[in-house]
Amino acid sequence: MEYKLNENSEVDSWKELMLIYSSALKEIGTKLEILNDEFQHVHRYNPIEHIKSRIKTPESIVKKLKKNGYESTIENMVMYVNDIAGIRIICSFTTDIYRIAEMLTNQSDIKVLSVKDYIKNPKPSGYKSYHLIVSIPIFLSDRIIDAKVEIQIRTVAMDFWASLEHKINYKFEGNAPQHIKDELYACATMVSDLDAKMLSLNEEIQQIEKENAK
Ligand code: GTP
Ligand code: MG
Repeated sequence: MEYKLNENSEVDSWKELMLIYSSALKEIGTKLEILNDEFQHVHRYNPIEHIKSRIKTPESIVKKLKKNGYESTIENMVMYVNDIAGIRIICSFTTDIYRIAEMLTNQSDIKVLSVKDYIKNPKPSGYKSYHLIVSIPIFLSDRIIDAKVEIQIRTVAMDFWASLEHKINYKFEGNAPQHIKDELYACATMVSDLDAKMLSLNEEIQQIEKENAK
């Protein structure tokens, strides 16, 4: 392995670091479950379809540091790799995305470090999602450590698109043939149209339900 984990103290801190990041994922995961349950209780529907979380592999951490010109040290990992702990929230409707982001970032222990709204400003590829980098305090036996977590929030349709696009880019190592890129971009437009249509249908259904309840 290339990174400096030879000394016992560093192995310790590597293990401790992974423990902290997995704790951060648990903390955010629980917050999301609570919000989803409460939402179900109050509004009778779940804004969250499902949640995926992952810890970045040591290989990808090292690769990312290298790509950005940093030496592979624990300090650099903590400072420069914002997505060691990652959580992806998949919802049904675009409105849910902003609702979830707001409910989460309004919590007093969560600090928002950065926001990227690729829904309002999609990437040139057509990629859409709402990204947050937050930090959350982790209470250890003798101290409190702030851990960074990357949160991606997207609809089921956006997730479908992103998964395929990721797979294609991986296959072609980022150099997919132009016609595939063009078709993917066209699909991204269809995804947006579908999301808009599903949202308006859902709003119409809710309106009818409300009137029937009167
Ligand atoms: P990295 O891409 O992780 O180096 O970070 P960044 O600083 O460019 O941040 P950004 O918020 O743009 O992207 C973070 C993550 O979002 C990526 O690691 C991917 O998981 C996802 N992402 C960003 N752009 C795309 C895209 O064009 N297609 C797909 N499929 N995923 C993307
Ligand atoms: Mg990433």
